[in-house]
Amino acid sequence: VATLGGLMLMGYLLGSIPFGIILTRLAGAGDLRSIGSGNIGATNVLRTGRKGLAAATLLFDLGKGALAIAIAEAVAPGSGPIAGLGAFLGHLYPIWLKFAGGKGVATLLGIAIALYWPLGIVFAVVWLGTALAFRYSSLGGMLAAAAMPVAAWWFGMEQALWVFVVTLVFVLWKHRGNIERLMAGTEPKIGKSSAA
Ligand code: G3P
Repeated sequence: VATLGGLMLMGYLLGSIPFGIILTRLAGAGDLRSIGSGNIGATNVLRTGRKGLAAATLLFDLGKGALAIAIAEAVAPGSGPIAGLGAFLGHLYPIWLKFAGGKGVATLLGIAIALYWPLGIVFAVVWLGTALAFRYSSLGGMLAAAAMPVAAWWFGMEQALWVFVVTLVFVLWKHRGNIERLMAGTEPKIGKSSAA
């Protein structure tokens, strides 16, 4: 139990590194929290007009989730899901940003890939399919997060299944503003800073 707690804390600390803010600031593209939705993720970095920077944010936010799992599995096999959950919560509630973090979609993708790569394929297909069809990043993220417990159940991954139920609840909670905008028809499409 002590090891599991420690590995979850390790995941939390890794997950709490706000790469979107760090990379945007390093690139001199301003403070992400005063741009677009104010969110710290790749979707909002894209609203600065810097595609490479958005891709880098996606990769690093995904990478921290995957790395947490790789480290945990190396230390204690089977502890990946709990460390991944730690990283996810770190991204959502980072200690460095007074617990005001992101929405967890990229980190969840990293967790899916690291736990079992076919989960990552399911995630990417649902996200990309939604994004291509409707051009809403938030909708793609929520549907991809919803596909994870179903896919984990399908693949017979019991521990991952409950972790993905928890992450889905948090993803929906963090997207409550997006849900309101989607219903009001004011959610900006991918790459746009406003709905217009
Ligand atoms: O991954 C975050 C995305 O689902 C929504 O981001 O900035 O459009 O609220 P944003």
